[in-house]
Amino acid sequence: MKLDLSFSAGQFDDLQLRDKNVVVLDVLRASSTITVALNNGAREIIPVASIESAVKISGSLFGEVTLRGGERNGKTIEGFNLGNSPLEYNEPAVKGKSIIYCTTNGSVAMAKSRYARVLVVGSFLNLTAVVDYMRDENKDFLFICAGRLNSIGSFSLEDAVCAGMMIQKLMKVETLELSLSDSAKAAHALYKSFGRSILKMLRNSEHGKYLMEIGFADDLKICAAVDSVPILPVQIENKIKIKKEDPPVVPVREPVQ
Ligand code: MLT
Repeated sequence: MKLDLSFSAGQFDDLQLRDKNVVVLDVLRASSTITVALNNGAREIIPVASIESAVKISGSLFGEVTLRGGERNGKTIEGFNLGNSPLEYNEPAVKGKSIIYCTTNGSVAMAKSRYARVLVVGSFLNLTAVVDYMRDENKDFLFICAGRLNSIGSFSLEDAVCAGMMIQKLMKVETLELSLSDSAKAAHALYKSFGRSILKMLRNSEHGKYLMEIGFADDLKICAAVDSVPILPVQIENKIKIKKEDPPVVPVREPVQ
């Protein structure tokens, strides 16, 4: 299994990611918020790259069962139902809803990955669920770190550390033959340096500090909780949904003569 990693989504266009197995990480906060929303019963999340696309796609659907969620500068977009705090995506707000979702970096990275063979949404919340899936697939994977607010293309520590922690867990699986790109090795080294306290690392990250400044300190605690929401959000027909267990393969029996 080859593991590659990009420290931002900026360099990709969607056709480059065709047929790849991609894990998109936006720890603060898109990946974490999507994971919480699906766990609280949201039917599906539809990630889009711009506010214009969100408005266009929701169009006449906007209302009862379709919500718009997302942020600009970390705050709710005008005319949207929800911002980007995982706390907003509670059961009464999201159960049964389709959510058209637009954020500065996370949803852009997901929209760019729409032609990927596999698109998984990863965060600390569902870290082991993602690692178990990658282990079982035993295919090459590309981690895409979403990057930082208002500056798509720039590095964010928390996404790299999360990828590094996933890599660390995969390295412990004896049956896997791993080969790491230089960037994957760098993320692993960052996990070794900064992964001792995830919450402390988030509080010291640039985006974490910004979120605390604008009143979202509690979001950092939620986003730091490793394996607190053990589900696997994956893309199915351009929508992010919880991957259900594949049905067991029932052996075909020879008819009794
Ligand atoms: C993003 O996509 O850039 C983020 O999730 C920003 C945030 O709301 O924290």
